[in-house]
Amino acid sequence: MNAEPQTVETRHSATVQETLRVNLPQTAYDIVIAPDNLLQLGERLLSLSLGKKILLLSNPEIFGYYGEQAITSLQQAGYEVATHIIPPGEQYKTLESIQGVYDTALENHLERNSTLLALGGGVIGDMTGFAAATWLRGVNFVQVPTSLLAMVDASVGGKTGVNHPKGKNLIGAFYQPKLVLIDPAVLKTLPDREFRAGMAEVIKYGVIWDRELFLKLEVSHRLDQFEYLTPDLLQLILIRSCQAKADVVGEDEKEAGLRAILNYGHTIGHAIESLTGYQQVNHGEAVAIGMVAAGEIAVQLEWWSREDANRQKLLIEKAGLPTQIPADLDPEAILATLRTDKKVKDGKVRFILPTEIGKVTISDRVSPDIIEQAVISNQ
Ligand code: GLY
Repeated sequence: MNAEPQTVETRHSATVQETLRVNLPQTAYDIVIAPDNLLQLGERLLSLSLGKKILLLSNPEIFGYYGEQAITSLQQAGYEVATHIIPPGEQYKTLESIQGVYDTALENHLERNSTLLALGGGVIGDMTGFAAATWLRGVNFVQVPTSLLAMVDASVGGKTGVNHPKGKNLIGAFYQPKLVLIDPAVLKTLPDREFRAGMAEVIKYGVIWDRELFLKLEVSHRLDQFEYLTPDLLQLILIRSCQAKADVVGEDEKEAGLRAILNYGHTIGHAIESLTGYQQVNHGEAVAIGMVAAGEIAVQLEWWSREDANRQKLLIEKAGLPTQIPADLDPEAILATLRTDKKVKDGKVRFILPTEIGKVTISDRVSPDIIEQAVISNQ
């Protein structure tokens, strides 16, 4: 594959539009992936028969890059647009910020057929969705994700919410968007570290669901920066990742069973994020480390081959992501944190464990000894 970097604008303008369907009985919707999505934003909403008013939520940086373009496109299509800007970062993903959104919604007389539109990464998407789910008992919601992580994970599937001072995403609702519009070109302004964080979730889909995606990633030259990906590879990554998420959510919207596999790498990953105060390691990095640890557990249990675990580790390294648990974290503290995770079921820690590339199983019977061994061997 040709991985020679060329200029972003020309390389990332050639791909075609792709539409995927998230098949949910009451609330099916499309994910449209196209390089001109931001320019066409207003026009693309017209077929949804939304009301005239749109409240666009963003953070200052993303709004600075893309706000004007988005607003112009929406206005040209006849929408009245109000905006609400939330400072960047997890620390603003709070009920207090949502109160601010409600205030703006009230000031602008939003109605039941109005729309909240998220222009941003996962934090903006989750908060916009939660505000949309609750304002007037539910208004329309549209996702325009601008980070790779939000494109391939957070914007699809309807998990919305905010943090509680004692834990991430403890307050929330399942609330599906009417449409997800992905414009790959906006990734050119995403910081490299954020791009890599999204790549962790892409690799996750390869391991849990889509062997072919894993193989494509394996033969690609570099995955650690947006600039090194050809438009075709980026398009493939977006399509196959969103398809994997749509398949899983389409079978199990509310996480009664299958959807839990999307938490691969997240069990130990969340413990690492929490023990490092959500500062040292970002979400994607924590998931990357968590996938290596889960792989190690699966190898210890003889459910997965050492060879495949090594392939996973190599791919994670190729994406410029960490594989080792920070050395200063006490394995006992990790075990204690696992027991308080919100995904604990009937007091048991659930692990998603690979059995082959593209397939995983769910187990709540992993002994603390095996977990500890996997943690120590990955430090
Ligand atoms: N990010 C995991 C899920 O959407 O279920």
